[in-house]
Amino acid sequence: MQSQEEYMRGLKQWLHDTEDVPLEEMAEFFTRRLGDYEEHMSFWAESYRLFAEVLPPGCRKILDLGCGTGLELDQIWQKDPEIEVTGVDLCRDMLDKLSDKHPDRHFTAVCQDYFQYDPGREQWDAAISFESLHHFLPERKRELYRKICRSVKAGGVFILGDYIACCEEEEQLLRAGYWKRRERSALPEDVFVHFDIPLTLEHEKELLREAGFAIEHVLDGDAVIIIGRKGK
Ligand SMILES: C[S@@+](CC[C@H](N)C(=O)[O-])C[C@H]1O[C@@H](n2cnc3c(N)ncnc32)[C@H](O)[C@@H]1O
Repeated sequence: MQSQEEYMRGLKQWLHDTEDVPLEEMAEFFTRRLGDYEEHMSFWAESYRLFAEVLPPGCRKILDLGCGTGLELDQIWQKDPEIEVTGVDLCRDMLDKLSDKHPDRHFTAVCQDYFQYDPGREQWDAAISFESLHHFLPERKRELYRKICRSVKAGGVFILGDYIACCEEEEQLLRAGYWKRRERSALPEDVFVHFDIPLTLEHEKELLREAGFAIEHVLDGDAVIIIGRKGK
């Protein structure tokens, strides 16, 4: 097992080595990698299994933000094939792959930016998101989490599985790397780019609490899974 010190040394080296690699637009990034996406993500297999396990029993209707090809849904539907899912994702090709894998499930694909999507009020037993929100700054996530909280039913949950920074230094280094690359990039400011800018667990929990979720549980595995519950 790598120590935090070794991890941070590796991260700094990676930031240095990739300094001149151009940023890619988000949906294009995933379209280009669609062929080996699922194999690449198999590293998180245990986290996907855990993620499905913590979904509270009795959830009938769930909203998945950044569902991609649905690796978390593969596990969730294995447990309960009747669950109705609305999956929001920017990348049409990822959504098409998901729909092709699961033609018999109750699935609605929404090809849209989840910051723009209107999830309605008190609609969902659970909102979920796996490995998507670490691409965004806290200012954006703050509003999104509020919107998610309004959209889940009283007593419902938001389950967030994501890449979490191991310390403030990691959060700051990646954020600085992000801005440096954005400044050099030819891509317009409002275009989403694929670059990881995870928050620390404390910062992520703070945003969720501010939005109205009580933090019920945190599972610290390959991906950190945070379960926030909306009050009744
Ligand atoms: C690493 S993939 C994770 C997909 C899936 N949840 C999984 O774990 O396999 C991140 C996904 O988030 C989507 N995404 C990123 N930003 C988004 C946004 N603003 N709105 C909707 N989807 C977004 C990407 O298109 C991509 O499919």
